[in-house]
Amino acid sequence: MTFVMDPLLYPSVIKRGRQLDFHDFSDQAASVTFGYPAVRGGRFPGLSEQIQKLFRLLQGDSLDVLTFRMMGNLQVVLRRSLSIPEGAFPKDDWQVEDLYEPKDDWQAKDDWQAEDDWQAKDDWQAEDLYEFCYRVMFEATFLSIYGRPEQGAAHPGMNTLQENFRKFDSVFPLLIARVPIALLGQTKGIRQKLLSFFHPCRIGKWIDPCEFVQRRVHLFDQYDTLGDLDKAAHHFAILWASVGNTIPAAFWSLYHLLTHPEALAAVRQEIMGVVSQEEAESICTRDITLTREQLDRLIYLESALNESLRLSSASMNIRVVQEDFTLSLDAQRAVNLRKGDFIVLHPQSMHMDPDIYPQPRMYRFDRFVEAGREKTDFYKHSQKLHYYRMPFGSGSTQCPGRFFAVNELKQFICVVLLMFQLELPAGQEDARLDTSRAGLGILPPANHITLRYRPNSLQQPN
Ligand code: HEM
Repeated sequence: MTFVMDPLLYPSVIKRGRQLDFHDFSDQAASVTFGYPAVRGGRFPGLSEQIQKLFRLLQGDSLDVLTFRMMGNLQVVLRRSLSIPEGAFPKDDWQVEDLYEPKDDWQAKDDWQAEDDWQAKDDWQAEDLYEFCYRVMFEATFLSIYGRPEQGAAHPGMNTLQENFRKFDSVFPLLIARVPIALLGQTKGIRQKLLSFFHPCRIGKWIDPCEFVQRRVHLFDQYDTLGDLDKAAHHFAILWASVGNTIPAAFWSLYHLLTHPEALAAVRQEIMGVVSQEEAESICTRDITLTREQLDRLIYLESALNESLRLSSASMNIRVVQEDFTLSLDAQRAVNLRKGDFIVLHPQSMHMDPDIYPQPRMYRFDRFVEAGREKTDFYKHSQKLHYYRMPFGSGSTQCPGRFFAVNELKQFICVVLLMFQLELPAGQEDARLDTSRAGLGILPPANHITLRYRPNSLQQPN
């Protein structure tokens, strides 16, 4: 592998998408890891292109729908932490259009059931912070993407799915490194259980999966050469893509806010600028929503999230050379590349470069804000960088879920801060990055951090 270390040279690599291709590598690696036959190579004509095309359903208007659903699901899942009985909430008869034209009567008292019947727990609850982020983001994302079960609000087997997912994810670095699955203990059996969760006859019964999933189900049905478990493996791969990085990102985003009071105060103030006092006070019992426009206004929160991603992202951007050719790096330099070589960008080195980011190990929540707007000018050797923040990869292969990821992280922070009083008990060591997953996205924490929380409604007036 040849690493390109100077970020000023990144554009010369990124713009050569045809000769320096990501999908050759990702198709091979993903098929071995998730257990479906490689998509490219003739057996499934047009499938790879169709899969790529459907990624647009994670953006634009479809993103609004997905984001709206995520907001509702986050509140459903988080309220369970408050032990509020089912049925204490309004019936969900909202449509996405209501985002822009809220119903006048949506807060009518009659819509609310058993609101006075529940008593929130008045005591503090303690939980590992990573566990908290894991269970909330996993289930809320799952519901938003794959839809609800036939009956009830929670999918039966969700806890087991999560457990198996974690076991699988813990050996993910070995699978990607092409260690044969047969050498990895029970991994093959665990992957089989995960795939059976996504079996087409199960997925077909889930209510209201997002358009992206619906269209993928339809696409895979066009290919007789894809077996049921192959289809299931494709769906499972999307689960991994959608929560594998978002969960640790949620952890670092919340952890950094809770350990930096000035950042927390600024973000809280910003959130209170987009939601009403009444919404904030009633969130433990009543759904609130945040439109795209409201989310876009949270620029300090976005900067804080980007700063957490900068500090925890360790992904590599791998490109495979498609033909012998000479890559010119700048006006003076060029290198000859051989077909089959690997060229790698390593954004973590750029994210930690003190020339670009002064005191790079420090968390500065407002690093990406300037004069009340997003800051986009960063320099290396006094030259402006085209690429300076790359947790989502680069060029044409950039993560297609990046807009949804940022939205859901913003929503997660907003809902958690509005719904709970939170604290990290004193005397704990600082959270450290688990570097055993270097190269594979957002690193999880290496150590245990305790979170204490209780409903915000119990907050005493100052
Ligand atoms: C690919 C990061 C969330 C779906 C990628 C890549 C990175 C990445 C680095 C490889 C890009 C490249 O090498 O150029 C992240 C991070 C996330 C996140 C840091 C959260 C903080 C999501 C979400 C979804 C998603 C929420 C879906 C709902 C995908 C898919 C690919 C991908 C499908 C493969 C794209 C392809 O094959 O062309 N992501 N991602 N990601 N991501 Fe994400």
